[in-house]
Amino acid sequence: MTIVRPDADGFRRAVEVLRADSVVAFPTETVYGLGANAFSEKAVGEIYRLKNRPSWNPLIVHVANVEAARELTESWPDEANELAAQFWPGPLTLVLPRARHLDGVGASNDTIAIRIPAHEVALRLLEASGLALAAPSANRSEGISPTTAEHVLRSLPDVPLVLDGGPASWGIESTVVDLTGSGVRLLRPGALSLRALRDVAGPITLPGEGPADGAVRASPGMSRRHYAPRATVVLVEDVRDADRDDSVGVLTYETAAVEGAEVLSADPREYAADLYAALHRLDDAGVATILVREPPPTEDWLAVRDRLARAATK
Ligand code: TXA
Ligand code: MG
Repeated sequence: MTIVRPDADGFRRAVEVLRADSVVAFPTETVYGLGANAFSEKAVGEIYRLKNRPSWNPLIVHVANVEAARELTESWPDEANELAAQFWPGPLTLVLPRARHLDGVGASNDTIAIRIPAHEVALRLLEASGLALAAPSANRSEGISPTTAEHVLRSLPDVPLVLDGGPASWGIESTVVDLTGSGVRLLRPGALSLRALRDVAGPITLPGEGPADGAVRASPGMSRRHYAPRATVVLVEDVRDADRDDSVGVLTYETAAVEGAEVLSADPREYAADLYAALHRLDDAGVATILVREPPPTEDWLAVRDRLARAATK
């Protein structure tokens, strides 16, 4: 694997690899993605193989502009117009009816997940390659998402090329919403807050809400253990009174500092930006267990709490 700077030579090499139906890891504003030509069955197959991703879990397709997004869809509802105008480029993924001519974009599905990333390197790569890039987070399936090029290297040493864009600014994945039914349904909480979404789209249906008729789609990747470090994650209310030895690491946030702990910000956005890097560091320290102080049960913490709960799932 080679980590390259995003200069003219770096982009030239990246485009060459993508055109040869192989994969390139690249930075986005959320986390690093493992990109491949979305219309090449071979290239997309390489993503699934390298990540050890189950074949039923579909991929997000990244495009450079709204026109390219619309070409991937069978229909384009008004909500898509409004959300795209307000939040693209940015950390919002829209699930839409898939254009009928599109097969081979990961798992078979009549829908497609699309976003325009707000990162100069990602956008330049999309433009230079002229391709739509299927790109899941660039980590082994179930593992911690990468927020630096180093993290990609450690999780997926067999990836031929990584464009290094420095640390990801959001540090947590995009918010995924489904627009294929009536209204806007949240599939995965993420970097874009529900408050921001509601301001534009009105009421949002949360997972578990809405008609219980079995017709409601779920996000296939959201049903299991995920975002997990090697160590066992245990959520606790108070990390201060825990019994600890060298095999136990602690992740907490400001005002409840404990000696030797990873202490993150008490602001949910800043916390999210550092969370995966902190989990990577705790894994590197070789602890067997990570005690995590549970963040407050408020909506501002929804995405962080979602990731921590999945990291703690066995
Ligand atoms: O921020 C992000 O979204 C990052 C960067 C690289 O863009 N990507 C990312 O991809 O997190 P991934 O594959 O790790 O997560 C994609 C999520 C999964 O939960 C997957 O099941 C869901 O989106 N998804 C993809 N296509 C879908 C579809 N057609 N319908 C419902 N959910 C879908
Ligand atoms: Mg992922």
